Amino acid sequence: MAKPVTGFSKKTKTEKIDWLTQTYLSANPTAKQTLQKYWNTDTKLQKLHDDFIENTISNYYLPFGVAPNFLINGDLLALPMVIEESSVVAAASNAAKFWLSRGGFTAKVLSTQKNGQIHFDYFGNEQDLIIFFSEIKTILIESVSEIQKNMKKRGGGLLDIELISKTDALDGYYQLHCTFETLDAMGANFINSCLEQIAQTFEAKAESHPSFKSNNTTPEVVMSILSNYVPECLVEAEVSCPIEDLDQKDIKGNEFAKKFVRAVEIAKAEPRRAVTHNKGVMNGIDAVILATGNDFRAVEAGIHAYALKNGHYSSLTDARIENDTFIFSIQIPLAIGTIGGLTSLHPMTKFALQLLQNPNAKQLMQIVAVAGLAQNFAAIRSLVTTGIQKGHMKMHLMNILNQLDASEIEKNEAINYFKENTVSHSAVIEYVEKLRA
Ligand code: MEV
Repeated sequence: MAKPVTGFSKKTKTEKIDWLTQTYLSANPTAKQTLQKYWNTDTKLQKLHDDFIENTISNYYLPFGVAPNFLINGDLLALPMVIEESSVVAAASNAAKFWLSRGGFTAKVLSTQKNGQIHFDYFGNEQDLIIFFSEIKTILIESVSEIQKNMKKRGGGLLDIELISKTDALDGYYQLHCTFETLDAMGANFINSCLEQIAQTFEAKAESHPSFKSNNTTPEVVMSILSNYVPECLVEAEVSCPIEDLDQKDIKGNEFAKKFVRAVEIAKAEPRRAVTHNKGVMNGIDAVILATGNDFRAVEAGIHAYALKNGHYSSLTDARIENDTFIFSIQIPLAIGTIGGLTSLHPMTKFALQLLQNPNAKQLMQIVAVAGLAQNFAAIRSLVTTGIQKGHMKMHLMNILNQLDASEIEKNEAINYFKENTVSHSAVIEYVEKLRA
């Protein structure tokens, strides 16, 4: 068994790799080379990546793809997508092309408010706490004036602080619920700095306040942190067209629309389907979120919580037929930024934002919502017509060929052959083996 290591973070990159390979990878003599192969030869660029996180030993590439022809609120955009799954970019491109000739996507931001809480314990008289809070609320707001100086100049900042009793859920649990406008920044650092300052001021004022001394119960802060649940930071996107415009090769528009709407109704009614349905939505959302340097874990957590807003996990998208018009839409919470964080550090993120014509945060929210809607449209369209495996396996063909170390000639032959034949893992192996024989 390996021995615990001390001072690992202090070791140089080479020392870290040597320790790891000696301790865990003695069976793989090329492990070190594999790590080094993924180092960037531009040492300045490599240093930039090294410094993004701690204990960096190499880089982990994901493909950066592009889905063109997205008509969004009248602008024609090519969406940057970072994702490892084959078919996703192709599906997004197909959906974009489909809607390009049917009026494109419309999107609108409904609200942009973010929030965070100071969670604290208080076991005294509630009325004393209410009076104390009303006395010090202005002081709490003033305590962050230095932190929010620049944000305020730009038109954002702390919006309000509310005292909320959560004692129904947990004995003695209260919170200061703080709301923020962070404009084009995701704002996590700004919000957390404000919260920690407010918490400090709150505790200091409470300690010297007579109400709490007399009954010997002083509010005690447990923690202060932003919330990744942002149902007041909402965006929606939509496509619509007359049903007859949905006519396709093997299916009439009205039949397609009915099946499509039914598929969405099933995702609304059945959580097992809703999770997969929303996973498809997230294929599009995460890919654009990653490409633009935003925090996909925060986005995922917030969106899935929103899918539960009516008490059971449900579809993020909605489809209906109204007066012979097919309408398909999405509404999601999104706290993202186009300045700060990785957005201005990672060269590929900068490229992605430039490709999107340097959107502000609201515009990026619209683009991301469209990516989710498009992806879901493509998935449901396949599911209710051909099934997804046909297209998926075609795209997966290249992965299988790469696993088999196929040469360029073998790849071209296989691509041609599988235009007419069904792709499966075993069929591809058999075909390549035959070629090689
Ligand atoms: C696969 O990545 C995503 C789908 O399963 C989504 C869906 O079922 O709607 C195709």
